[in-house]
Amino acid sequence: MRKTTLITGGAGYIGSHTALALINAGRHVLVLDNLCNSCRECIKRLEQLTLTRVDFIKGDIRDSRLLDDIFSRYDVEAVVHFASLKSVAESVSNPLDYYTNNVAGTLDLCRAMARNNVFKLVFSSSATVYGEPTRTPIAEDFGTGKPVNPYGRTKLMIEELLSDLCHSDPRWSIALLRYFNPIGAHESGMIGEDPTGRPNNLLPCLTQVAIGRIPELTVFGSDYPTVDGTCVRDYIHVVDLAIGHLKALLKLQQTSGIDVWNLGTGVGYSVLQIIHSFEDITGIAIPYRFAPRRPGDIAKCFADPGKAKRELGWTAQRDLRQMIIDAWRWQSCNPQGYQSSFKIAALSAVR
Ligand code: NAD
Ligand code: UD1
Repeated sequence: MRKTTLITGGAGYIGSHTALALINAGRHVLVLDNLCNSCRECIKRLEQLTLTRVDFIKGDIRDSRLLDDIFSRYDVEAVVHFASLKSVAESVSNPLDYYTNNVAGTLDLCRAMARNNVFKLVFSSSATVYGEPTRTPIAEDFGTGKPVNPYGRTKLMIEELLSDLCHSDPRWSIALLRYFNPIGAHESGMIGEDPTGRPNNLLPCLTQVAIGRIPELTVFGSDYPTVDGTCVRDYIHVVDLAIGHLKALLKLQQTSGIDVWNLGTGVGYSVLQIIHSFEDITGIAIPYRFAPRRPGDIAKCFADPGKAKRELGWTAQRDLRQMIIDAWRWQSCNPQGYQSSFKIAALSAVR
């Protein structure tokens, strides 16, 4: 049997880019996803991109019987665990779904892994676990803060339970990856972020305004103590993020225990800087208006990515221009996300 990397949530935004990076690096992957926030078309696109069959199982990480079946049929050497609900607003209105899916789901997954002697895990955490940082850039040794919403709390709880697990049993080897703000898409324009309903995050809102699906962009807050009054974030290209997972998997082969790495660029951009860069690069004017601050937003958040550089040999390679070009290519080629039949859009406007 071939050694396999199991990717939970691998039909989603970051999971699909990571599946592609792993396949391109010569690994065999198995995607497990219940498609609650994704679709099979993404797997088809991965197959077109890699010219291989991508092993895919539609199923839930909370289905213990299914997990045992998977571990008995495949020689799983490591699990990259993306499967999670991720809407901050929904987590406030429906916290039980978030604690059940994210926290209890991770427990079910870890139990199944242990039953089947699989102990290597890469977990998708978030910079949200830092809460409101006292200073920037944010390094891993700042310690965690108080996430301000149930989604953020599920990430912190999972980090803590995985840490307890590692300390209870030396066979575990776990990488916690704290993502900053993933944006962009694969350069082919064939896979990308496809939010259901109205998006919450900045880049999908911006590209949907540009394509005409949303009339104008709302900029939340103009009075933050930042360069121009709007919030500053560390935007990172999703392909760079995907490569970070490959590096973390390589690290797990050499170590045991648990460790944590920030995956960010170390550079912060304000909301207005993002809008103006998008306009400069695409030549498309973005109508926007200011609104009050969004509850839970912090003024500034950007990473110190030094630890990932030193220990994983990873640094982000793609700059903001590339992130914007690739995000726009994905949106233009797929105006309705994966519902669109993919067509190469002329990016004549990109300067
Ligand atoms: P996504 O929603 O696109 O992908 C998550 C995938 O998990 C989806 O395909 C969904 O169908 C699947 N899924 C959810 N619950 C499942 C379950 N119980 N069983 C099987 N599959 C299930 O989200 P994403 O943006 O790709 O995020 C991936 C991971 O990264 C998540 O854990 C998310 O919390 C984390 N993260 C994302 C961001 C971001 O900005 N996108 C930032 C920090 C952390
Ligand atoms: C948000 C979540 C975070 C989660 C991450 C990925 C909150 C408070 N934080 O991060 O927990 O891990 O998404 O899913 O929701 N903005 C606008 N107009 C918009 C959308 C966003 O001005 O229409 C601004 C926001 O106020 C923020 C910045 O753009 O200042 C980035 O927002 P977003 O893309 O939602 O990411 P975060 O808030 O950093």
